[in-house]
Formats: sequence, C-alpha cells, structure tokens
Amino acid sequence: MPAASAADLLAWYDRHRRALPWRALPGEQPDPYRVWLSEVMLQQTTVTAVKPYFQKFLTLFPSVTALAAAPEEAVMSAWAGLGYYSRARNLHACAKAVAAAGAFPDTEDGLRKLPGIGAYTAGAIAAIAFDRPAAAVDGNVERVMSRLHAIETPLPAARAQIRLFTQALVPDRRPGDFAQALMDLGATLCTPKRPACALCPWMLPCRARAEGLQDTFPRKVKK
Ligand code: ADE
Repeated sequence: MPAASAADLLAWYDRHRRALPWRALPGEQPDPYRVWLSEVMLQQTTVTAVKPYFQKFLTLFPSVTALAAAPEEAVMSAWAGLGYYSRARNLHACAKAVAAAGAFPDTEDGLRKLPGIGAYTAGAIAAIAFDRPAAAVDGNVERVMSRLHAIETPLPAARAQIRLFTQALVPDRRPGDFAQALMDLGATLCTPKRPACALCPWMLPCRARAEGLQDTFPRKVKK
C-alpha cells in the first residue's frame, strides 16, 4: 500500500479547490483578519450559512480595528442568527486584544492565548494566514484520518492519535493549502455517508477503503 502524501492531496486541491469568500486566490497573500473571522464563524456553522454573515461583517467592520472599535451591541446584532453567541462576545474581545497589540500573533501558541481561539482555530489560522506547518483538526479531518489509518480507537479517545497522524502529514510548503484541502476532502468526498472513494486522491493509501470499511469509520463509543 502506498503512503498518503501531502503532494497528492495538494494536486487534487489545485484542481478542485472550492472558491470561498475568505480564501485568498492562488498566489495572493491571505488576510489574517478574514481568515480569523471565517474560522470563528465556521466553528459550529456550515459554509453555506456562514457566507452571508462573513460578507456582512466585512462591510460593517472592514478591519480588526474597526471591529474592536464597534459597540458591543453592533457586533451582537450583526451576529444575530448565527447562534452560539459566546462566539460573538469572544470575537469582540479578541478584536480588542489584537487591535491593542497592533497585529494578530503569527504562531499557534500566540493565537491560542486569544479569546475564542482553541486548538483547531489556532492551527487553522497559523497555517492558512501565516504559512506555519500547523495541523487544523476538526470533525471532518478526524473522519478523513480515522479512515486513512483505519483507527480502531473510538472518538473522542482517538483525538490525540489523530492529531499526531495529521501533524505528520503537514508539508513545510503550502501548509495553509494543505489544511484547506483536508477540509474540502472531508466536506466533499470523504463524507459521513457514502464517501466518494473513487474520486479520492488518497484512495490507494486509505486502509479503511482497502478493507471496504470506509463507512464504518470513525469508530464511536456506543451511546
Ligand atoms: N471549515 C472550517 N474552516 C474552513 C475553511 N477555511 N474552508 C472550508 N471549510 C472550513
């Protein structure tokens, strides 16, 4: 069985990359404000639901300093409908901290210290906005990795192992594209039900697929 490679995933991404409003075009420098705003919105909300809110926030608050200076009520009312309102309060607190510091921290550790930024979001921003070789492991990525390696340990116990497997695959070049390619793979091909294995750039190295068991991963503790 061949090993999974970042190169194969990136080649797939170059052909099938989704055009999303927060993504920089190939060759463009990503804007940390847009990356952060989108990742916070996407924490518990789908891409489709986030899109109009993302555009609205950019219009109302075009920069992190503009967001920091806005009244709390303006931020909360712009967020209304997205749910999980602690995200909006943390977003505002985070904007104030970044505005006071003058810029976003450009490392995973620095980002982790900000309100509303956990392990996933810190990894995503470090990779996408700052080209750091960081892993961004969300539920989609957990599913991809649990299938690729046929991980028998159920979630959530398998999380630490999945993080290590993901980190081991992160390339030094294009780590941000790699993070987003993994998200796209989980969202479009390696779906919870009936994954489209025939189209997958990692079909050959996928252990679950080799055994015909792709639908049965990730393992979960029975409720
Ligand atoms: N889900 C979370 N972050 C994402 C991103 N940057 N692109 C697509 N889906 C995502």
